[in-house]
Amino acid sequence: MAHASLSLEKVLTSPILDLGGGGEGIIGRIYGRQVTAIDNRQEELDEAPDGPKKLLMDAAALTFEDASFQHVTAFFSFMYMSHTVQAQAIAQAARVLRPGGTLHIWDAEISSAFPEPFLMELDVDAAGTPVHTTYGIVKEDVAQNADHFLSLCQDAQLNLADRQEHDDWFYLRLTK
Ligand SMILES: C[S@@+](CC[C@H](N)C(=O)[O-])C[C@H]1O[C@@H](n2cnc3c(N)ncnc32)[C@H](O)[C@@H]1O
Repeated sequence: MAHASLSLEKVLTSPILDLGGGGEGIIGRIYGRQVTAIDNRQEELDEAPDGPKKLLMDAAALTFEDASFQHVTAFFSFMYMSHTVQAQAIAQAARVLRPGGTLHIWDAEISSAFPEPFLMELDVDAAGTPVHTTYGIVKEDVAQNADHFLSLCQDAQLNLADRQEHDDWFYLRLTK
Protein backbone atom coordinates (compact mmCIF):
# COMPACT_ATOMS: atom_id res chain seq x y z
CA MET A 1 0.00 0.00 0.00
CA ALA A 2 1.20 3.51 -0.82
CA HIS A 3 1.76 5.79 2.13
CA ALA A 4 1.92 9.53 2.70
CA SER A 5 2.87 11.26 5.90
CA LEU A 6 2.39 15.01 5.73
CA SER A 7 2.07 18.02 7.90
CA LEU A 8 -0.04 21.01 6.83
CA GLU A 9 0.17 24.38 8.50
CA LYS A 10 -2.36 27.19 8.43
CA VAL A 11 -0.61 29.57 6.07
CA LEU A 12 -3.27 30.81 3.61
CA THR A 13 -5.07 33.99 4.57
CA SER A 14 -7.66 34.55 1.81
CA PRO A 15 -10.81 32.71 0.65
CA ILE A 16 -10.16 29.12 -0.44
CA LEU A 17 -12.11 26.93 -2.85
CA ASP A 18 -11.48 23.27 -1.97
CA LEU A 19 -12.18 20.82 -4.82
CA GLY A 20 -13.47 17.41 -3.72
CA GLY A 21 -13.61 18.79 -0.21
CA GLY A 22 -15.86 16.10 1.28
CA GLY A 23 -14.67 12.99 3.11
CA GLU A 24 -12.08 13.85 5.72
CA GLY A 25 -12.27 17.48 4.59
CA ILE A 26 -8.65 18.13 5.52
CA ILE A 27 -8.48 21.67 4.11
CA GLY A 28 -11.78 22.55 5.79
CA ARG A 29 -10.49 21.26 9.15
CA ILE A 30 -7.55 23.63 8.93
CA TYR A 31 -9.22 26.73 7.50
CA GLY A 32 -12.87 26.38 8.63
CA ARG A 33 -15.12 29.21 7.43
CA GLN A 34 -12.43 30.50 5.10
CA VAL A 35 -13.23 27.50 2.87
CA THR A 36 -15.88 26.82 0.26
CA ALA A 37 -15.81 23.02 -0.13
CA ILE A 38 -17.34 21.56 -3.28
CA ASP A 39 -17.89 17.86 -3.90
CA ASN A 40 -20.06 15.99 -6.39
CA ARG A 41 -21.26 13.53 -3.73
CA GLN A 42 -23.58 14.83 -1.01
CA GLU A 43 -22.71 11.97 1.38
CA GLU A 44 -19.04 12.97 1.22
CA LEU A 45 -19.94 16.58 2.06
CA ASP A 46 -22.15 15.39 4.95
CA GLU A 47 -19.28 13.30 6.29
CA ALA A 48 -16.79 16.20 6.31
CA PRO A 49 -16.48 18.20 9.54
CA ASP A 50 -18.60 21.36 9.90
CA GLY A 51 -17.04 24.77 9.33
CA PRO A 52 -16.65 25.31 5.59
CA LYS A 53 -19.46 26.35 3.30
CA LYS A 54 -20.37 23.05 1.58
CA LEU A 55 -21.76 22.96 -1.96
CA LEU A 56 -22.74 20.02 -4.16
CA MET A 57 -20.89 20.80 -7.39
CA ASP A 58 -18.82 19.13 -10.10
CA ALA A 59 -15.22 20.36 -10.14
CA ALA A 60 -15.37 20.13 -13.94
CA ALA A 61 -18.27 22.62 -14.11
CA LEU A 62 -17.78 25.22 -11.37
CA THR A 63 -20.63 27.74 -11.15
CA PHE A 64 -18.55 30.54 -9.57
CA GLU A 65 -17.75 33.72 -11.44
CA ASP A 66 -14.32 34.29 -12.94
CA ALA A 67 -11.65 35.44 -10.47
CA SER A 68 -13.68 34.55 -7.34
CA PHE A 69 -10.95 32.97 -5.17
CA GLN A 70 -7.38 33.70 -4.16
CA HIS A 71 -6.66 30.00 -3.58
CA VAL A 72 -7.94 26.71 -4.97
CA THR A 73 -6.93 23.49 -3.22
CA ALA A 74 -7.28 19.83 -4.18
CA PHE A 75 -6.20 17.44 -1.45
CA PHE A 76 -6.04 13.89 -2.90
CA SER A 77 -9.17 14.67 -4.94
CA PHE A 78 -7.85 14.49 -8.50
CA MET A 79 -7.01 10.79 -8.04
CA TYR A 80 -10.78 10.19 -7.97
CA MET A 81 -11.31 11.86 -11.38
CA SER A 82 -10.67 10.64 -14.93
CA HIS A 83 -7.94 12.39 -16.91
CA THR A 84 -10.63 14.22 -18.90
CA VAL A 85 -12.33 15.50 -15.75
CA GLN A 86 -8.95 16.46 -14.25
CA ALA A 87 -8.20 18.65 -17.29
CA GLN A 88 -11.64 20.28 -17.09
CA ALA A 89 -11.32 20.84 -13.34
CA ILE A 90 -7.89 22.45 -13.67
CA ALA A 91 -9.16 24.73 -16.46
CA GLN A 92 -12.08 25.68 -14.19
CA ALA A 93 -9.75 26.26 -11.24
CA ALA A 94 -7.66 28.60 -13.39
CA ARG A 95 -10.81 30.46 -14.44
CA VAL A 96 -12.08 31.06 -10.89
CA LEU A 97 -8.66 32.07 -9.53
CA ARG A 98 -7.85 35.74 -9.24
CA PRO A 99 -4.78 36.97 -11.10
CA GLY A 100 -1.84 36.14 -8.82
CA GLY A 101 -3.90 33.45 -7.07
CA THR A 102 -2.59 29.97 -6.37
CA LEU A 103 -3.65 26.38 -7.06
CA HIS A 104 -2.39 23.83 -4.53
CA ILE A 105 -2.43 20.13 -5.46
CA TRP A 106 -1.57 17.27 -3.14
CA ASP A 107 -2.03 13.92 -4.87
CA ALA A 108 -0.82 10.38 -5.33
CA GLU A 109 1.67 9.02 -7.79
CA ILE A 110 -0.20 6.12 -9.39
CA SER A 111 1.10 3.60 -11.91
CA SER A 112 -1.94 1.30 -11.88
CA ALA A 113 -5.31 1.00 -10.11
CA PHE A 114 -6.72 -1.96 -12.06
CA PRO A 115 -7.36 -4.85 -11.66
CA GLU A 116 -5.74 -4.43 -8.25
CA PRO A 117 -7.02 -1.34 -6.41
CA PHE A 118 -4.71 1.56 -5.64
CA LEU A 119 -4.72 2.28 -1.91
CA MET A 120 -3.11 5.24 -0.23
CA GLU A 121 -2.72 5.37 3.52
CA LEU A 122 -2.36 8.90 4.89
CA ASP A 123 -1.09 10.24 8.17
CA VAL A 124 -1.88 13.92 8.20
CA ASP A 125 -1.07 16.54 10.77
CA ALA A 126 -3.82 19.03 9.89
CA ALA A 127 -2.44 22.10 11.69
CA GLY A 128 -2.16 20.15 14.95
CA THR A 129 -5.03 17.67 14.46
CA PRO A 130 -3.84 14.17 13.58
CA VAL A 131 -5.90 12.39 10.90
CA HIS A 132 -5.29 8.83 9.76
CA THR A 133 -7.20 7.68 6.68
CA THR A 134 -7.00 5.51 3.59
CA TYR A 135 -8.08 6.63 0.12
CA GLY A 136 -8.63 3.99 -2.57
CA ILE A 137 -9.70 3.62 -6.18
CA VAL A 138 -10.24 0.79 -8.67
CA LYS A 139 -10.17 2.22 -12.18
CA GLU A 140 -8.47 1.77 -15.54
CA ASP A 141 -6.35 4.44 -17.22
CA VAL A 142 -5.62 6.49 -14.13
CA ALA A 143 -1.80 6.51 -14.12
CA GLN A 144 -0.66 9.92 -12.88
CA ASN A 145 2.35 11.74 -11.47
CA ALA A 146 3.52 15.30 -10.90
CA ASP A 147 4.51 15.75 -14.56
CA HIS A 148 1.01 14.78 -15.68
CA PHE A 149 -0.54 17.54 -13.53
CA LEU A 150 2.13 20.05 -14.43
CA SER A 151 1.27 19.55 -18.09
CA LEU A 152 -2.48 20.01 -17.44
CA CYS A 153 -1.76 23.15 -15.41
CA GLN A 154 0.50 24.61 -18.07
CA ASP A 155 -2.27 23.99 -20.63
CA ALA A 156 -4.47 26.13 -18.34
CA GLN A 157 -1.85 28.94 -18.34
CA LEU A 158 -0.81 28.31 -14.72
CA ASN A 159 2.85 28.66 -13.74
CA LEU A 160 4.80 26.35 -11.46
CA ALA A 161 5.80 27.99 -8.15
CA ASP A 162 6.69 24.95 -6.02
CA ARG A 163 7.09 21.22 -6.58
CA GLN A 164 7.75 18.63 -3.86
CA GLU A 165 8.00 14.95 -4.68
CA HIS A 166 7.94 12.07 -2.21
CA ASP A 167 7.91 8.29 -2.67
CA ASP A 168 4.16 7.92 -3.28
CA TRP A 169 2.79 11.46 -3.50
CA PHE A 170 3.57 15.00 -4.55
CA TYR A 171 2.64 18.62 -3.94
CA LEU A 172 2.43 21.27 -6.64
CA ARG A 173 1.78 24.97 -6.23
CA LEU A 174 0.91 26.99 -9.30
CA THR A 175 0.17 30.65 -9.78
CA LYS A 176 -2.14 32.37 -12.23
C1 LIG B 1 -10.20 11.12 -1.36
S1 LIG B 1 -11.78 11.79 -1.43
C2 LIG B 1 -11.71 13.10 -0.24
C3 LIG B 1 -10.51 13.94 -0.25
C4 LIG B 1 -10.74 15.21 0.55
N1 LIG B 1 -10.12 16.32 -0.18
C5 LIG B 1 -10.21 15.11 1.96
O1 LIG B 1 -9.62 16.07 2.46
O2 LIG B 1 -10.41 14.08 2.61
C6 LIG B 1 -11.96 12.64 -2.99
C7 LIG B 1 -13.24 13.40 -3.12
O3 LIG B 1 -13.32 13.94 -4.44
C8 LIG B 1 -14.67 13.94 -4.80
N2 LIG B 1 -14.80 14.06 -6.26
C9 LIG B 1 -14.51 13.14 -7.20
N3 LIG B 1 -14.78 13.62 -8.43
C10 LIG B 1 -15.26 14.89 -8.25
C11 LIG B 1 -15.74 15.90 -9.13
N4 LIG B 1 -15.76 15.71 -10.45
N5 LIG B 1 -16.15 17.06 -8.59
C12 LIG B 1 -16.13 17.28 -7.26
N6 LIG B 1 -15.70 16.35 -6.38
C13 LIG B 1 -15.27 15.17 -6.86
C14 LIG B 1 -15.21 12.63 -4.25
O4 LIG B 1 -16.62 12.61 -4.14
C15 LIG B 1 -14.50 12.55 -2.90
O5 LIG B 1 -15.24 13.12 -1.86
